[in-house]
Amino acid sequence: GREQQRSLIDVMSTAARFYREQLKSSPRAVDYLKRRGLTGEIAARFGIGYAPDGWQSLDKAFPKYDDGGLAEAGLVIDNEAGRRYDRFRDRIMFPIQDARGNVIAFGGRILDAGEPKYLNSPETPLFEKGRELYGLPQARVGIRETGTVIVVEGYMDVVALAQYGVNNAVATLGTATTPTHVQKLLRQADRLVFCFDGDKAGRKAARRGLEASLPHLADDKTVCFLFLPAEHDPDSFVRERGAEAFQLAARDATPLGRFLLDTLAEGCDLQTAEGRAHLVHNAKEFVPKIAAQVLRLQIVRDLAAVAQLSPEETSSALGLAPPPRP
Ligand code: GTP
Ligand code: MN
Ligand code: MN
Ligand code: MN
Ligand code: MN
Repeated sequence: GREQQRSLIDVMSTAARFYREQLKSSPRAVDYLKRRGLTGEIAARFGIGYAPDGWQSLDKAFPKYDDGGLAEAGLVIDNEAGRRYDRFRDRIMFPIQDARGNVIAFGGRILDAGEPKYLNSPETPLFEKGRELYGLPQARVGIRETGTVIVVEGYMDVVALAQYGVNNAVATLGTATTPTHVQKLLRQADRLVFCFDGDKAGRKAARRGLEASLPHLADDKTVCFLFLPAEHDPDSFVRERGAEAFQLAARDATPLGRFLLDTLAEGCDLQTAEGRAHLVHNAKEFVPKIAAQVLRLQIVRDLAAVAQLSPEETSSALGLAPPPRP
């Protein structure tokens, strides 16, 4: 209940403070952040910390290391032998905050090569993965000022963009974008730009973002997709090319309608009747889900042109009511 949430929020805030303090006394962790181009100011803005390399370091942060709250908060693990140890050890700690700024989870990055690269908090009464976005409280003003929200994959992408003055990015925390994410973001912004990594995983994430967007599109909102060069993610791109190049690319991002048609046509030979039929077949699963009425009509029209059917025939093939006759 609320009482339990309140006390877990206290536990998380104590842990976040401890990790921040530990960062100050770990030159190795500070060096790591510097090497990645971050200033102390940005690290402080995101509350970045460091979990020391010990099995029970949190013992120093809490009066009772055996307190049940530590396990419920996902900060410690109780093994079968009844021994308790810290979940996060020797990792850079990114606190995940809710819209009010309460710390509800952590993402921890290993400093050197190793597996797993990122370790995240488990789901807890505070943290439901498909709902939360990293960097939301820090991005609030930037989103309001630009009317735009940029959705990226990683913690470091959000933080690096902020380091370069791009203050309206949030991350989906390695999980797929959900309709809940999109709904939340489109309440705050008129334009949503997905900008995932240029690799295969990033392209797959873009498709998931596309699917998640369909039920929450509105005719006064724009969703688009910025595809980075294959070797880049937003962090490496902004560091190599600068904020202006990133903003230009974001401005010219591919609109959802275009990306949807390209995705649906993948593997279809549009030179043949069979290929064009396959395209319309593929569209059946997606186009009817578009919640924006006029945008759906526009997309049906574009699809019809490619499929070499009339808009009426296309609507009927998709199981949609025919567009109103002029
Ligand atoms: P850096 O290497 O620090 O720049 O991280 P990145 O964000 O570029 O990593 P990557 O593109 O590989 O992954 C994107 C996001 O997926 C990360 O920010 C994490 O949220 C998540 N992720 C990556 N690797 C792991 C992992 O090993 N375990 C889990 N649970 N999540 C991961
Ligand atoms: Mn990646
Ligand atoms: Mn990446
Ligand atoms: Mn990266
Ligand atoms: Mn198919």
